[in-house]
Amino acid sequence: MNGERCAQITGWGMAVPERVLTNAELAKVVDTTDEWIVSRTGIQQRHVVASEKESTATLATRAARTALRVADLAPTQLGLVIVATATPEYVFPATASLVQDALGAANAGAFDLSAGCTGFIYALSIASDIVRSGGAEHVLVIGAETLTRITDWTDRNTCVLFGDGAGAAVVSACAGRCGVQATVLGSDGSGGDVLILPAGGSHTPTSHETVSSGGHFIKMNGREVFRFATTIVPKATEAVVEKAGWQLAEVSLVIPHQANIRIIESAAKRLGLPLDKFFVNLERYGNTSAASIPIALCEAINMGQVKAGDKLVLVGFGAGLTWAAAAIEWGVPTPVKPQPWPRRWFANLRFALATVRSIVRRVERRVYNWAMGPVRKDDWRGRLRQRIDRWWGHG
Ligand code: COA
Repeated sequence: MNGERCAQITGWGMAVPERVLTNAELAKVVDTTDEWIVSRTGIQQRHVVASEKESTATLATRAARTALRVADLAPTQLGLVIVATATPEYVFPATASLVQDALGAANAGAFDLSAGCTGFIYALSIASDIVRSGGAEHVLVIGAETLTRITDWTDRNTCVLFGDGAGAAVVSACAGRCGVQATVLGSDGSGGDVLILPAGGSHTPTSHETVSSGGHFIKMNGREVFRFATTIVPKATEAVVEKAGWQLAEVSLVIPHQANIRIIESAAKRLGLPLDKFFVNLERYGNTSAASIPIALCEAINMGQVKAGDKLVLVGFGAGLTWAAAAIEWGVPTPVKPQPWPRRWFANLRFALATVRSIVRRVERRVYNWAMGPVRKDDWRGRLRQRIDRWWGHG
């Protein structure tokens, strides 16, 4: 691969809502205890959106802005924005388009990717292939979720597990042997009903019945997911290590999907790796689905656990059922020097201008629709239109 065009992560960022929901607080709402949640999952608390102003897109945008600052990149340099999410802002438009607009990424295409909690690695794989093939110089990959918006707070089987957040990575072209070395992607749709949001899609559109029966909430067979995860995490890890041409012993750090500490412990045991080779932060965030791996990656870097030359494995599983892994040879020196204040200031100004640009475009569209909409001839707008038409020689 030496001398070839590669794709590496050059910027990273994360965002979580301020509001922290502890196990003790949950125990007041459903029949559970802190002891049960910690012993069965390892989760102690999670961050949850607490205001209407917070959503998947706002968390994604915050994470993305940090990632662009770290990469020292202007939003206009992005060729593509991919948002992996199971909780998009809307069915359409894509959350990625809203984030693209909020960032001022005027030259980027944008789309959402749905692969459950595995979505970030799927998106990373696509981004690295596009960058390597020359389709784009820089791709922004985001995993973002507000799972608590589709959580049934009366269902103790699920409501203790999930949290909200976003993580982002800028994937850029580089020369030489670095960055994403291999990815493996997998799916087994026969397990689709094991982890599902039953209503709101074309199969079961939203109706009074679906709402009253709670079809708009996550439904999960926890034991089945657990059995699947404990098998697939070691398998996917071994597969990607082999594809990258590495030995398992060379891996510096595994960053697994943060669902349950018992799944991670089981994977470590099956792979014969010490648990301290696995990055774990689920005790503070719970399962943030597609956001969990990029958030963990950010924290691992910020905690000094990722250095240039390190061999990382990202591995995830989730609804679909899906799974994926990525082998990354880290190429960027860490810690990254903070930007000097004028550059920081300029970057913030660019983001503020993107907001203004977005507002202006919305207003422009409204004014156009108002001016060009149906009018009566005797109405003052109609008379004004006739005058303009005469002036332009159309009347
Ligand atoms: N508090 C107290 N008791 C609970 C509980 C809670 N929050 N949630 C479930 N229980 C009960 C169950 O009702 C069950 O009681 P029963 O035997 O009387 O029916 C009992 O605890 C044991 O349930 P079980 O399913 O065997 O527990 P478990 O050890 O498998 O742990 C999960 C349950 C959900 C934590 C575990 O199966 C898991 O983590 N699965 C994977 C989930 C996941 O990662 N999903 C996201 C994938 S991306």
